[in-house]
Amino acid sequence: MSSIASNPPHGGTLINRIVSPEQHQDFLSKAESLPRVTLDERAFSDLVMIAIGGFSPINGFMAQDDYNTVVTDMRMADGTPWAVPVTLSVDETTANALKEGDLVRLDDTTGRFVGVLELTEKYTYDKVKEATHVYRTDEDKHPGVKVVYDQGPINLAGPVWLLERDPHALFPAYQIDPAASRAMFAEKGWKTVVGFQTRNPIHRAHEYIQKCALEIVDGLFLHPLVGATKSDDIPADVRMRCYEIMLEHYYPQDRVILAINPSAMRYAGPREAIFHALIRKNYGCTHFIVGRDHAGVGDYYGTYDAQYIFDEFQPGELGITPLKFEHAFYCTRTSTMATSKTSPSSPEERIHLSGTKVREMLRRGELPPPEFSRPEVAAELIRAMRVAQAV
Ligand code: ADX
Repeated sequence: MSSIASNPPHGGTLINRIVSPEQHQDFLSKAESLPRVTLDERAFSDLVMIAIGGFSPINGFMAQDDYNTVVTDMRMADGTPWAVPVTLSVDETTANALKEGDLVRLDDTTGRFVGVLELTEKYTYDKVKEATHVYRTDEDKHPGVKVVYDQGPINLAGPVWLLERDPHALFPAYQIDPAASRAMFAEKGWKTVVGFQTRNPIHRAHEYIQKCALEIVDGLFLHPLVGATKSDDIPADVRMRCYEIMLEHYYPQDRVILAINPSAMRYAGPREAIFHALIRKNYGCTHFIVGRDHAGVGDYYGTYDAQYIFDEFQPGELGITPLKFEHAFYCTRTSTMATSKTSPSSPEERIHLSGTKVREMLRRGELPPPEFSRPEVAAELIRAMRVAQAV
C-alpha cells in the first residue's frame, strides 16, 4: 500500500503539530508556570486543524504580515494563496500579560491544557477592514462579522502545538485526519477524489451534485463540518445520522468516505469557498464541489460569487479543481433532479426549498416532500426536531 495520495498538500508539506511524547512531558512539567490563554470553541478547532495539517502550510496563528496580505490579497506574505485569516484574538489585559518569546499555555473552555503557543508577535488589527475584505460587508448582523467584532482587539501569533488528538466525543469513527484520509485514498487506488463541504442536512440537490461529480472522479469524500455553526443550523449529530442513512440506502459504499471536518463555519461565502477547497486539498482531494451560494448566509452573496472567486487565481495555483454546479432542483416535467443547464422546466415546475423553509416545516411537524428530501432523512429530521422540542 502506498501512503502517498494523489494530490500534494497546500505548500507541499503536510503539517503535523501534535507533540511528540518527549515534548508532551516537557510541556506538562511546565504546565503550572506558563502564562495562560483560554481558547474559545473556534480557536480550539483552529488549533486542531493546524495541528493535524488541515490548514497546511500554516503551522500557527497568523503573524501580521501574513494576516495583512491574506485580508487584502488572499495570499500569505510569500504569495501562497490563502483566503481567511486564522488568528487568535485576545483582550488587552491578556495581551499585556504576555511578552514575545513566551511559551503560552492554551486551555480549552473547560480549563483543560490543550496546547502551546510560542508567541512571536502581538499586533492590533482593523476589524472593519477584515470584515469588508473577507466577509464583503461591515454589518454586525452577519454572523461571521459579529464574531470578528466581538473578539479581542489584539492578535497573538506564532507556531502552536496540540497536546493530544482526542477521539471526537460523538463521531470517533468518522474522525479521519488528513494523513489518514490520504492513506485511505491511496489504499483504495483513488487517483481523483472530490471533496464535499456541508453544514446542512443532506437533501436531494446535495445528493444530485455529489453523484454528478462521482460520475467523473474515483471517489467522494463527504466532509460535513462539525465545528461551531450558528445556533439555528441543524446540529452536527442529526446531520451525521442523515448521512449514515443516505450511505446505507442510496450510495455505492465503496466509492464514498464519510469523515468529519472539525473546523468552525465562518459564513464568508466566496472567501470561505477557497478556504474550504484548500482544506480538502490537504485531506488529499483533487476536486471540490462548489454549488449555489457556497458557505453563504442571508443574501450577502450572489448565488455564484463563490464560483467566480476561483477565477481570481491562475490555473493550477490552488492545486485543487473546483467542480461548479448550478442551483439544482427537482424538475416535475422530467421527473428528475436537474439544473437549468439540463432541464427545460418553467419556474413553476421546479421544486426547491431553502434551509429556513425546511426548518419551519420541521418545526410545524411537516415532512419535507420526497422531491426535496429522501423519506428516511425527512423522518430522521422530524424525529430530531420532536426530541429537541421536548427538551
Ligand atoms: S454550506 O454553507 O456548507 O455551503 P450547504 O451544506 O447547504 O451549505 O451546501 C453544501 C454544498 O452544496 C455547497 O457547495 C453548496 O453550494 C451546495 N448546494 C447546496 N444546495 C444546493 C442546490 N440546491 N443546488 C446546487 N448546489 C447546492
